[in-house]
Amino acid sequence: MLAIFGFLLVIGLQALSVSAQTVSRWCDSWTNVCFQRFYDASIDTGWGYLFPSTPRTEFIGIFTAPVGVGWVGTSLGGGMRSNPLLLAWVNGQTPLISVRSTAQYAPPSPITGPRVTILGSSGANATHQRIVYRCENCTTWSGGTGGINQNGNHMFGYATHANIKPSPPNSATAGIQRHTLANQFSLNTVDARSTTYDAQLTLLVNTPPLVPGGPPIIITTSSSSSTSTTPITQTSTSTSTAPGPTQSLYGQCGGLGWSGPTQCPVGAVCRAANNFFHQCVPA
Ligand SMILES: *[C@@H]1O[C@H](CO)[C@@H](O)[C@H](O)[C@H]1NC(C)=O
Ligand SMILES: *[C@@H]1O[C@H](CO)[C@@H](O)[C@H](O)[C@H]1NC(C)=O
Repeated sequence: MLAIFGFLLVIGLQALSVSAQTVSRWCDSWTNVCFQRFYDASIDTGWGYLFPSTPRTEFIGIFTAPVGVGWVGTSLGGGMRSNPLLLAWVNGQTPLISVRSTAQYAPPSPITGPRVTILGSSGANATHQRIVYRCENCTTWSGGTGGINQNGNHMFGYATHANIKPSPPNSATAGIQRHTLANQFSLNTVDARSTTYDAQLTLLVNTPPLVPGGPPIIITTSSSSSTSTTPITQTSTSTSTAPGPTQSLYGQCGGLGWSGPTQCPVGAVCRAANNFFHQCVPA
């Protein structure tokens, strides 16, 4: 008995010594896209960011949370007031996101200017919801902190409601309940950069939604052409007949259900990013 308690005590102390909140590089095992991510283990919720290697006016973001969480949000300027606030949730299987703002500590209203688009792999399975989005015209604004520092540490804000969905939950601009948890974290946006930002954007656009039972099993990431066991019709391409249509760099060249071009341009190879999306990437 004493031994069991001693064991539990050691585990408890170890758990205490590890912070529940971290900012680190996190690679999504489904799409293989890597984000710089703030993760709060106590609520199993993450806020990830991916920036182009040369600063532009956009970034890609991801929210992951248990399926019952009401909504998840980020302030692009850290504090709540006068900065763009992105609010997202999954209603059933449908992901929703909007950009809002408020000058007061009051419910924020939808705004125009920043443009958010839901990307593939968003949705919900039995346990989790995830919203992957592209945010364009999102790095500067008037008021608040005025913009995102894309060259070093930047304060983002985060907020969530533990269990109440916005009402009505099928409207992206629905009224929300006040957050049950909110704070800020510092994230180095240089660490969040990717030299293959555009390729990853295309990959994410083409990844199917998360559904119950998903995400699907990944077959491969490292082979050059289609070596998977998926029923793609052109696996034996070593004939000398005229080549088929050529896909453009970063375009799709294969994957389950794909019937478009499977040839990549000179200097590029077709690489499986996941079962559903094979992409022309530089050789
Ligand atoms: C970008 O957003 C700002 C507000 O932050 C807005 O004034 C401007 O019109 C937007 N630009 C475009 C091209 O949408
Ligand atoms: C549900 O999705 C989450 C997030 O993508 C994933 O971590 C988890 O393994 C999935 N659960 C099941 C049962 O597929």
